[in-house]
Amino acid sequence: MNLSELESLTTRAVADLSAAATPADLEALRIRYLGRNGAVNDATAALKAAPPAEKPFWGKAVNAFKSRTEKALADRRAALASAAEAASDDFDPTLPGAWISPGTLHPVTQLIDRTTAIFRRMGFTVADGPDIETEHYNFDALNTPADHVSRDTQDTFYLPAARLLRTQTSAVQARYMEANPPPVRIVCPGRCYRRDTTDATHSANFHQIEGLYVDRAVSLANLKSDIDHFARELMGPGVKSRFRPHFFPFTEPSVEVDFSCHMCGGKGCRVCKHSGWIEIMGAGMVDPNVFLAAGYDPDAVTGYAFGMGIERLAMLLFGIDDIRRLYENVVPYLSQF
Ligand code: DAH
Repeated sequence: MNLSELESLTTRAVADLSAAATPADLEALRIRYLGRNGAVNDATAALKAAPPAEKPFWGKAVNAFKSRTEKALADRRAALASAAEAASDDFDPTLPGAWISPGTLHPVTQLIDRTTAIFRRMGFTVADGPDIETEHYNFDALNTPADHVSRDTQDTFYLPAARLLRTQTSAVQARYMEANPPPVRIVCPGRCYRRDTTDATHSANFHQIEGLYVDRAVSLANLKSDIDHFARELMGPGVKSRFRPHFFPFTEPSVEVDFSCHMCGGKGCRVCKHSGWIEIMGAGMVDPNVFLAAGYDPDAVTGYAFGMGIERLAMLLFGIDDIRRLYENVVPYLSQF
């Protein structure tokens, strides 16, 4: 075999393969050209026997033979297969297709959407802050003294350089006021982190939504009526709120807010532990020290703030009894809601 014979062999092989009429013909051609005792072997033998000066040319030509015939073989094989499929009666175009699940939103995402939508309708906008916070915004600027229990390493994930994973979305309040003059009307949904041991009601990673309203002459009455409105919108028309005195470093006075039980209407049931009320959030009037830290004049403005856990709302509304269900990512379970 010489080089020009190899070239015409290549052309012929490609033409034959491309014209094969049946898979059996194609297989016979494959054996003839590319099989163990096929033409490819003669070409390789000729390459080995070639004088050193000609070897590069032979090498190229043999490679071209192999790659062009292999490509022609694969192309023809695919063409014959799709022709066979098109001709076969097995394909029934009236059969229903494979069902594609549209997916569902995670219960936590649903509650973030629902709560922010309610507050948007009340004139609030949505603000955001980083998960990795500084001690300053998470504690100092929120009037939380250095020796306050909530700073304890048992509660907080500390990071180097006075940073931490924020323990509360309240940190966004401090950031937002520092960057924006009053009036302020924001809600801030987001992730929070605490060194809690996971159980049915605790998770080291959870979500809160914070609210902050600052203007001239904002009062506790505004807080009460806005929270009542929120309670009705989220839980149902008959739901009321009640305030119990409490303490938070960043508010004075501070309250804990309960909603009347949406399940039993306040008569007492398993969900409200037979008390008729369910604890929902912390709230209060913004402490003057928080205004001072943010550069606001506490004599010119007042404000209310609140913060609540999103997982808790999702569990109450969907009847989920264990917070861990929200994080195990069992899709059939989560997609019920
Ligand atoms: N940050 C508080 C917590 O994580 C919740 C809270 C209470 C937020 C009172 C507030 C507030 O804005 O005024 O427990």
